[in-house]
Amino acid sequence: MIKTKNITFSYTEYERLEELNSSDMELVAAAREAAMNAYAPYSKFKVGAALRLKSGKIIRGANVENAAFPSGICAERSALSNSVSNHSGDKPISLAIASMRGNEFTDDPPSPCGSCRQVIAEEESRIDGKIKLILSGKNKTMIVDGIADLLPLQFNRKSLEV
Ligand code: THU
Repeated sequence: MIKTKNITFSYTEYERLEELNSSDMELVAAAREAAMNAYAPYSKFKVGAALRLKSGKIIRGANVENAAFPSGICAERSALSNSVSNHSGDKPISLAIASMRGNEFTDDPPSPCGSCRQVIAEEESRIDGKIKLILSGKNKTMIVDGIADLLPLQFNRKSLEV
């Protein structure tokens, strides 16, 4: 029998940053700071990520590009490599992302690329919990519950189980 199935998800959109709770607002500020430290001489598109760990600690990451293009790394993966390497027992609970074109923050929020979605999915599986995603642009901020909403029908460690 052929069935058509639908996958839907909800997210919350905020017009103004001040509408976020203070912890999320602080995380967006950290993501913006991180974006200012990005090394993006090729794309001129600077991305900053800030992970909030359960302890309250904030870990920043930025995109770091390379003349050999595939050797560059995205902000989200840069932040996650840092947190796993230095605070593996302190689980991430939320991740804010902000981006800049040249010296201006982008009007629209950045959305994690496919590779970053896959890596965030692995981290959710490692910590056995969801990571709230806070995608922040100048004109709006979107809050998504967890990576499953942005990466449905995942290939993950469960897929490898026999
Ligand atoms: N980039 C990120 O850092 N995160 C994303 O999720 C999307 C893309 C970076 C990679 C590259 O340095 C620049 O943005 C342009 O693609």
